[in-house]
Order: sequence, then structure tokens, then C-alpha cells
Amino acid sequence: MKTISTIADLRTELAALRSAGKTIGFVPTMGALHDGHLSLVKMSKSVCDITVVSIFVNPTQFAPHEDFSKYPRPIEEDAALLATEGVNFLFLPEASDIYPPGSSTFVIVEEVSKEFEGFVRPDHFRGVATVVSLLFHIVTPDKAFFGQKDAQQVAVIKRMVRDQHFPIEIVTGDTLREPDGLAMSSRNRYLSPEDRRKATTLYTTLAGIESFMDSGYSLADAKLAGMKVFSEAAPDAVLEYLDFVHPETFQRVDSFNDAEKIVVVIAARLGSTRLIDNIILSPKT
Ligand code: PAF
Repeated sequence: MKTISTIADLRTELAALRSAGKTIGFVPTMGALHDGHLSLVKMSKSVCDITVVSIFVNPTQFAPHEDFSKYPRPIEEDAALLATEGVNFLFLPEASDIYPPGSSTFVIVEEVSKEFEGFVRPDHFRGVATVVSLLFHIVTPDKAFFGQKDAQQVAVIKRMVRDQHFPIEIVTGDTLREPDGLAMSSRNRYLSPEDRRKATTLYTTLAGIESFMDSGYSLADAKLAGMKVFSEAAPDAVLEYLDFVHPETFQRVDSFNDAEKIVVVIAARLGSTRLIDNIILSPKT
């Protein structure tokens, strides 16, 4: 694995490979890698000739009160994991290269970014779309890989790729879970042992909703029953949202008449840690 820190060096390496006919897969990350990231790397390696992983803790997607400075940066551990997976290039840019002084161009994906994470974290998706667009211009991959755990991020990026005519296929990898159901996330390492035990409530709530739907509940009734499951299992956690959305528009849906598949999204705060999760439901036939 080659570690590259400048845009110019990465472009030179990739241009040579592209003219030799190689396909390029790209996994953008902020590091603090877990098995979810590694499963995306494996997907890329199985379908592309060359796999590029970036690690860049992107300042523009954090609000001033958020965890940018304390975001975990175990760079040596991450690099060792990626080398073991057989990644070809690890791109580790400086913030001043990605955002040259005076940088003032942003990508805003309207509608899809508005509710849920976009409402709770205003400007978050502006930062995500901007950095992913910049990285796409630098890496120019054939395929880029994102985790379904961040379902709204996937919807935002797919819309940006469509609207901006990026010739890039967005591939989504399933959410990987711990044995008790907690979705893998770099932020899980912030949880105290007690909050870690309660964190599984996000998944039990989603699984509960699925079983209520299997028993014939309407979406509205399943949501109420899900809220009850959550508040009984973690009374001191704050449920920020629990809702049903269209996977592409991220607009609320009231029934399966509004969408072929729906995403059940949940966000909750345990202590000072915010966690999000989701599952995809299809109508019963
Ligand atoms: O999902 C993430 O880790 C980040 O939002 C991403 C896509 C790497 C952009 O900074």
C-alpha cells in the first residue's frame, strides 16, 4: 500500500493506472476504521482493479460545538488495517490542500438534506457533499462505496452524483452490527460502559418496529409502539427522531403506497454521544 498526501501525487499515480485500463474503486472515510469500513474495502477490491481509501476528518461537516477536535484519529492502526486488506493507495490529505485558503465553494443538495440529520445538524450535509465532490474530482473513481448505516448521507450523495453528472457508480454496503445489534460506528468508542449497554436500544426499537409491521400494524401505530419500546429500555436517553422515509428523497412516508421500500430512521442521544441507525422495510406480499 502506498500512502500519499498530496493531490498532485495521487493524480499522477491514478492517471497512469487509468490509462493502463485499470478500474478504480474509492472508499472515502474519516478514519477510526471498523469492520463496516473494511467490508466496503472488500467490496471495492472484489469489483475494481485498484482501491483507494481516503482518511480525512472533514472540518466543514462539523458544527463548532461538535466533536471535530476530539474525533478519534488512530492513523497508524488504520493504515495497518488497510495494508492488511490489500488497499493500493491510502490518501491522507491536509485540510489546507483540500480547502485552499479562501476556499468558498460549497455543494448544497436541497430537499434530501433538509430533515432528520440535516435538521439536527444544519450545514452537516453541505460539508459532506462538498468534500465528497472534491474527493471525487481528485480520485475520479469508477465506483465509490458508502455504508447504509448513514442512509441519509447515501441519499444525499446519490442525488449529488445524479444532479452533477458524475460518471461514478455509488455502491452501498450493508450496516455491520455488533453481536447485540448495535450498528458499528466510529463514534461508539465515545460510549461509557453503561451507555454502551443502552445503545443497543436503537436496534431493538428498529427490530421491534419490523415485528409490529409483520403483525399488521400501520406505520403510525408501529411508530408509537416503537417509541414505547425505546423509552422503556432507555428512559434517560433522548430519542431525537424515529420515522419512516423514502430511501431516495428522505421525505416522510405514511404508507407503502408512497414508496416501494421505506427506511425506518432513528437518532438518539446517550449521554453526550449521538447515535443513528436505520433499517429498510419492504411491503409484505
Ligand atoms: O461517512 C463519513 O465518514 C464521511 O461523512 C465522509 C463520507 C467520509 C465525508 O467526510
